[in-house]
Amino acid sequence: MTNWEFSTTTAEATQRLAGNLAKLLRAGDLIVLSGELGAGKTTFTQGLGRSLGVRPGIISPTFVLVRIHPNLADGPNPGGPDLVHVDAYRLASAAEIDDIDLENTMDSSVTVVEWGADRVEHLAPSRLEIELVRALGSPTPEHPAGDRPASNVVAQNPQDDAGTFDFDDEDDDEPRVLRLRAVGPRWAGIDFTGLDRPSKTTE
Ligand SMILES: Nc1ncnc2c1ncn2[C@@H]1O[C@H](COP(=O)(O)OP(=O)(O)OP(=O)(O)O)[C@@H](O)[C@H]1O
Ligand SMILES: [Mg+2]
Repeated sequence: MTNWEFSTTTAEATQRLAGNLAKLLRAGDLIVLSGELGAGKTTFTQGLGRSLGVRPGIISPTFVLVRIHPNLADGPNPGGPDLVHVDAYRLASAAEIDDIDLENTMDSSVTVVEWGADRVEHLAPSRLEIELVRALGSPTPEHPAGDRPASNVVAQNPQDDAGTFDFDDEDDDEPRVLRLRAVGPRWAGIDFTGLDRPSKTTE
């Protein structure tokens, strides 16, 4: 099986799931995040970064396309990969992705690309695709694999949608469904079952 589905009810739980996933990651891995504005892609990346033990400060890079978070020698995972966090929201195509030279950092980093679907698949033979879906008001939404809001191909300011999504109330935890699809030889035979369970470690 190459598809897994998880659900979380809080932002913290989404970060914990990402933290559990981080323990399976190594330099060279590519993660492609999709899901509508405010779905939790950056929140997920923060959990990943915390567990990878990279420099904190992971935010939605509204204007900065790429941020490199170096591994911290005094963090929980010294000597581990850096985290390269990309927001491809404003990039219209794979060609524009090539302009930012992710190949240079990929070998020493875990590369996470928000809005990366249909833009970064050519960068590596294997990838994890993770779609975050707001389950609000729709207990069992049907989202076929690869389904993304069309809005992400049009450059627009996320703030424009402030009326649609509740950006002001950042403490409001809501349910999310996370769909994980593992593509390529890197992930062959790897079982992601239990990623949403509390971590066995205390920190
Ligand atoms: N279960 C949940 N999982 C993740 N985030 C949640 C959850 N419940 C509530 N939230 C909140 O939803 C918001 C998600 O914002 P975030 O910036 O991570 O989204 P995003 O997908 O990166 O958006 P954008 O496309 O604008 O970059 C945060 O304020 C977070 O606290
Ligand atoms: Mg974001």
